Amino acid sequence: MDNFRHLIDIPRIWDRLEEVESRLMEVSTSHDSFMTEISQHLLKAGGKRLRPLLALLAAGLGPAEDRRAVEAAAAVELIHVGSLYHDDVIDESDTRRGGPSVNANWSNTLAVLAGDFLISRASELASTYLDMESVRMLAKTYTELTEGQTLEFRLTGRLDHQIATYQRVIDLKTASLIRTSVYIGARAGDAPTPVVDTLTLWAFELGRVFQIADDALDLVATTDLLGKPAGADIREGTFTLPVLLAVRGANGPRVVELLGHPPPYREDAVEEVISTVVKGGYVDQALSIALSHAQVASRALAELPSSHTTAVLETLGGFLIERVKAARHAL
Ligand code: IPE
Ligand code: IPE
Ligand code: MG
Ligand code: MG
Repeated sequence: MDNFRHLIDIPRIWDRLEEVESRLMEVSTSHDSFMTEISQHLLKAGGKRLRPLLALLAAGLGPAEDRRAVEAAAAVELIHVGSLYHDDVIDESDTRRGGPSVNANWSNTLAVLAGDFLISRASELASTYLDMESVRMLAKTYTELTEGQTLEFRLTGRLDHQIATYQRVIDLKTASLIRTSVYIGARAGDAPTPVVDTLTLWAFELGRVFQIADDALDLVATTDLLGKPAGADIREGTFTLPVLLAVRGANGPRVVELLGHPPPYREDAVEEVISTVVKGGYVDQALSIALSHAQVASRALAELPSSHTTAVLETLGGFLIERVKAARHAL
């Protein structure tokens, strides 16, 4: 269930993803073998490769068949993985992709440096193979990502922020890179400008669905599915959509009583909040908000001439939501 292979039934995409994997290994190789080892740690640990897959799918809506799409796909995964190195330092997480995070295995210092290395490599790839607008968009996206992470950090341990502020965090830290994956992929495939623009709108909404679903999953999934312990967001004082909705509901005062102080929180408090949020229907409420974004995405997609690729894209939003529902019902 936890990968996109069964949804993306286009052999060409998976062949090209193999090329992306080779490029990732090549460009994460440093003159310094120690840097190489650290930089390849998470790349080799797997991951869903959603962003490169989206770049390749978007490229498929244009006529070009050259290596630019593969380079674009590698660049967005490098930015993503570099940002995960930094994110695990920020969040003090010791697991990632089912194994130890880089900061846990080595140190925060090395995680910061190797994260920088990967992100710089993405810039090298983009500036060598892609057009100037794509290079600019990638740089802008990294700016947004850091702004999103900073805003989220400022909200740590605070239950009093608006839903709109949560929305801004997820737009900046997640939807931006998902949008850009599709934008630079489509341009790398020489897709016509109206197609690029429509796909970009679609992808931004998909990115919102993705992060809302990911945040909901943190409350309902097992460690096995997540590759890290469930409830991690609450433990670190990151209050996501279901928790913010619960604060506004009948159990709000109880949630505030349990979490209304800076972390750390008692384990029984975290457990009670999770159960209150899930049983109160707030995960479902968050999923209906995700669904409304998926519907906006679908409406954008409907403007494109239909093809096998657009049919695949159409399934992704629903899949992300269903995956959370399945985890929730398995509780
Ligand atoms: C994790 O992204 C970070 C978020 C934006 C939530 P993914 O869920 O795509 O992580 P991997 O690449 O599969 O490990
Ligand atoms: C992931 O954010 C990193 C970025 C989006 C930059 P989170 O902290 O929400 O994701 P996980 O839960 O660690 O994967
Ligand atoms: Mg994190
Ligand atoms: Mg984080």
